[in-house]
Amino acid sequence: MLTLTDSTRLLVLTGAGISAESGVPTFRDAGGLWEGHRFEDVASPEGFDADPILVWRFYSLRRRGLDNVKPNPAHHALVEVEKRLGDRYLLVTQNVDGLHAAAGSKRMVEMHGNINRTKCRRCRLTPFEDHKSYEELPACAECGELLRPDVVWFGEMIPRDALAAIDGFVRAAGSNLVFLAVGTSGVVYPAAGLVDVARSAGGTSWLVNAERPANVSQFDHVEIGPAGKVLPALFA
Ligand code: OAD
Repeated sequence: MLTLTDSTRLLVLTGAGISAESGVPTFRDAGGLWEGHRFEDVASPEGFDADPILVWRFYSLRRRGLDNVKPNPAHHALVEVEKRLGDRYLLVTQNVDGLHAAAGSKRMVEMHGNINRTKCRRCRLTPFEDHKSYEELPACAECGELLRPDVVWFGEMIPRDALAAIDGFVRAAGSNLVFLAVGTSGVVYPAAGLVDVARSAGGTSWLVNAERPANVSQFDHVEIGPAGKVLPALFA
């Protein structure tokens, strides 16, 4: 069991595995294909340049698919911990599905963006909430350029404010840092390197995952099992 003390500062990193029990498919369990598409065709600036309507239809389908999806006990367990720790807690998610927010998480960094936000690819008009399904290409009201989903694609940088928030939390925590990764395969950086950042800061690291991921040897404590069962018990 993970014991939280009055000085614990908990940094949680989540990946697709935490939403698996809500019915959202993970990435790498599908043999490198994402609902029948190669990652680079639907999740890269080059893929969008080559076929923007394919990319928009793909994301529209995923948006519709999330309509009936609900947070599971793993998302809810993290909300309870946030309530206990307040500003000694930060959630960093690689997921773009919005389920942490739906569960009630507040202190959160969505480092890969959010599928229900849209931005202009040229003037970067402030990303805005957008739940529409596009069959035709949407254009920016300001400059007429194509709108695109506000998600981080392959080859793109993580937003600077996201990295700054993580860095600030780790620095303030020092050796009081407890790092917990949940449902992530540990192959996509910089998220996969956060465990090393936490260890360098003098923190302790925990992993909850359905199987042993690529970076498993970096963790001090490893719990193998479904997040929806393991997480609530971990904080009990
Ligand atoms: P992956 O699909 O790579 O890995 C999901 C991990 O969750 C795997 O290690 C599974 O074993 C584990 N898992 C599956 N079901 C689980 C469950 N019920 N409980 C606990 N663990 C479970 O997903 P990510 O690591 O999130 O990036 O992928 C990282 C990034 O790669 C994504 O954010 C996305 C993708 O390219 C972008 O789109 C920028």
